[in-house]
Amino acid sequence: MLTLLAFGALLHEVSLSGPDEAAPETHGAPGGPLFDYASLRLHQEHIPRFLHNNRRIATICEKDAHCPYKEHLENLNYCWGYEKTCQPEFRFGYPVCSLGWMDSLEAAQDMFWKQADFGFARERLEEVRVLCRPESTSDSSLMCSRYLQYCRATNLYLDFRSIKRDDERFREDFFRRGEIGGHCELDIHLLMSEGQRKSPLQSWFAELQTYTQLNFRPIEDGKCDIVIEKPTYFMKLDAGINMYHHFCDFINLYITQHVNNSFSTDVYIVMWDTDGKLRVTILSRSTGYRKILNQEELASKLRTVPMFEVRLVDYKYGKFRFLDQLRFTHNTDIFIGMHGAGLTHLLFLPDWAVVFELYNCEDERCYLDLARLRGIHYITWQKMDKIFRPEKSDHPTLADHEKFNNYSFDAEEFLRLVLQAADHVLHHPKWPFQKTHDEL
Ligand SMILES: *[C@@H]1O[C@H](CO)[C@@H](O)[C@H](O)[C@H]1NC(C)=O
Ligand SMILES: *[C@@H]1O[C@H](CO)[C@@H](O)[C@H](O)[C@H]1NC(C)=O
Repeated sequence: MLTLLAFGALLHEVSLSGPDEAAPETHGAPGGPLFDYASLRLHQEHIPRFLHNNRRIATICEKDAHCPYKEHLENLNYCWGYEKTCQPEFRFGYPVCSLGWMDSLEAAQDMFWKQADFGFARERLEEVRVLCRPESTSDSSLMCSRYLQYCRATNLYLDFRSIKRDDERFREDFFRRGEIGGHCELDIHLLMSEGQRKSPLQSWFAELQTYTQLNFRPIEDGKCDIVIEKPTYFMKLDAGINMYHHFCDFINLYITQHVNNSFSTDVYIVMWDTDGKLRVTILSRSTGYRKILNQEELASKLRTVPMFEVRLVDYKYGKFRFLDQLRFTHNTDIFIGMHGAGLTHLLFLPDWAVVFELYNCEDERCYLDLARLRGIHYITWQKMDKIFRPEKSDHPTLADHEKFNNYSFDAEEFLRLVLQAADHVLHHPKWPFQKTHDEL
């Protein structure tokens, strides 16, 4: 079961080529290598097979004194098994069965190879058909294997302006017509005929059924706010939670690398998930006081609520670039932190956000006022008997001031306040994913 898509929203030339055509980058400088071999980053055993599939690079390597893979050039017959040019005696491996549960041993081996080995890549490759055909190199393209298990797109247009998210991980009506598409000739009948396995982890049909033939070129006609040039994988993860599931996901990613004949690690991987979780950021402090001593416990407490996506961050200088800090803050719905300069980040929260000053340390107005000026809802700790100061402050002059202590907080009470904040966010008129969330 292949569950992902190499969806390149690329500026790159549209290339409908299979293997063999990966354009080598040549470095003209005399004396320098003719190809950036280091970018391959492949295991030695993989190199001859990669060169088998990328003959142009093999040819360059042959001519190039700097090529570190000369020794492999003699083994260019080696292959994975899914290539048309692969002779059986040179393929990477083939199953050996001792029991024929099919009509014959051969049939059993063949079946195993197709379902659990590189034969799987072979079948997907054979199925690939062009669904949206480009007419010129600046056009878009879309091609997929059967049931849209694997797809590859170029110059893909995605419109996220009116996204609809709720608590479903894989919403089937996420894109409306016109919100996903490209400038190419769409074979709508072919596209619609691939819908028989419209299930989240088996197909991209739900997302691509509204793929639209556009009458503009998304990039050239300046229709995009953001153009992503880096090759990008979209993956629907089975469950982004544990090693077993991630190993399954890894296999899918690995097969996709083979099917696309591209092994670069300089890529984006997007985890496709349409649910509108509330993003909670807890700001941790690295100074000697006003630490949240039980921040891990508090974060874990929030994580028991499925609707929260909880992040514990430390905006320490040198650790987080400023722009990244702003990005992080701006993608937060509930921002939690102790009294301190870090709370100034509330200025960059979205309009529907809540800032939760965990404890104001007797400086009651500071961030309350700032939040009011920004128009952001503010809450703070209320029950003083549920704050604990286990350590004696050792600050020389201000020893007894609340600001020079560390604190821990009652986790139940903490959760109660965060749920209150969540309620505020969900009912804010600007909250983009309007729908009643009964589970809160
Ligand atoms: C898929 O292969 C094409 C052609 O070689 C390449 O340009 C593209 O970057 C690859 N996609 C990904 C996601 O690696
Ligand atoms: C707060 O905790 C930090 C780290 O645990 C410690 O270094 C510091 O001395 C504590 N501060 C006070 C005022 O107790």
